[in-house]
Amino acid sequence: MRLSRLSARVGPSGTMAADDRLQRLRAAGRDVVSLGAGQLDFETPAPVARAGTEAIAHGITRYTPVAGTLALRRAVRDKFERENGLVFGDDQVIVGAGAKAVVFHALLALVDPDDAVIVPAPAWPSYGSMVTVAGGRTVSAALSAAEGYRLTPAALRGALAAAGGCARGVILNSPHNPTGALMSREAYAAIAPIVREAGLWVISDEIYEHLVYDGTFTSFAALDGMGARTLTVNGVSKAFAMTGWRIGYAGGPAELIQAMEALQSHTSGNPSSISQHAAEAALRLCVAGDAEMAAERRRFQDALVARRDLACRILGGIPGVTLVRPAGAFYVFADVSRHFGRTLAGRRVAGSADLADLLMEQAGVAVVPGQVFGDDRGVRVSFAASPGELTVALDRLAQALA
Ligand SMILES: Cc1ncc(COP(=O)(O)O)c(C=O)c1O
Repeated sequence: MRLSRLSARVGPSGTMAADDRLQRLRAAGRDVVSLGAGQLDFETPAPVARAGTEAIAHGITRYTPVAGTLALRRAVRDKFERENGLVFGDDQVIVGAGAKAVVFHALLALVDPDDAVIVPAPAWPSYGSMVTVAGGRTVSAALSAAEGYRLTPAALRGALAAAGGCARGVILNSPHNPTGALMSREAYAAIAPIVREAGLWVISDEIYEHLVYDGTFTSFAALDGMGARTLTVNGVSKAFAMTGWRIGYAGGPAELIQAMEALQSHTSGNPSSISQHAAEAALRLCVAGDAEMAAERRRFQDALVARRDLACRILGGIPGVTLVRPAGAFYVFADVSRHFGRTLAGRRVAGSADLADLLMEQAGVAVVPGQVFGDDRGVRVSFAASPGELTVALDRLAQALA
């Protein structure tokens, strides 16, 4: 079959490809512990799951408005106002089939052919692919371990220069996948004047907002003068262990939301009515301080802090591995580049992909190579695994590198 030129340029997501290999090895009977997951291993909180089954029982099973039910959009508005200090009207909020779909429709609405979009790197790989599909090109702003993987004014100015006057927008992501870095209000305040001067639009992907262990979360749009140029994206996937429900949402300028809604009306249409009902419950219960919900979320938080500390302790003790302790999300980006050039288990390790292959096939540990995120020095270790799995997997990793 003759496929499009576009499909030849956009391969499958690197994290999905790694997961496919893992499933194949496991199907062949191999014992591989996965630290590759991009999702929590917890169940969706009980009151939220109940709202989902209620939706089915009560026949909430038909099309809804494309941008989401008014009830859910109101819950999203309340969430943004209470938790982020962002005030939106009903026409400034949209709900989509996951934050991924929301970011995609935003890029389709914002990017013209050959526009440059600045993406701090390492980065969640879908940003680059989505910019490509939208017809634009990605210009990386280099994040460094020395700066705690936070976007600095110098890195942003460097990317603007590299874009040669074609930069139209920037994608921010804090807490950050794959490094867990958190942008403080001060760090954002240092880049906001550059964003304003360059006339950039901003997509601020805040999907890991509720998973912060050190420091205070800040929404970029809450900074002075940034609201009018920023689309704030969030969702229920990571906060409430709801990756399978596929609900993301965004708030921003009405004109942009309207354009995204028009595009969404021709692609997915409305997100699942059942999932919308459950997401509304999650946001409402959270904002209302419901005791059962609060207890479930405290359980998530306590477990994740313990796992983060365990992962950092074991990884940090491995010779030739350095890391920046993540302040949020559930990933550690471990710099393993001191091992490049070595021959391990009879195989030469030239970069992160070789190392991840070797770890998966010889040591029985799945991690995601940094190459997938545009930074070959590291591997991403997800600590969304049980303490037992984490200990076994990281001990195997340590032995493989010994
Ligand atoms: C940075 C980032 N943004 C967005 C998403 C997608 O979230 P959703 O499940 O809501 O589509 C992910 C998922 O891994 C992510 O890491």
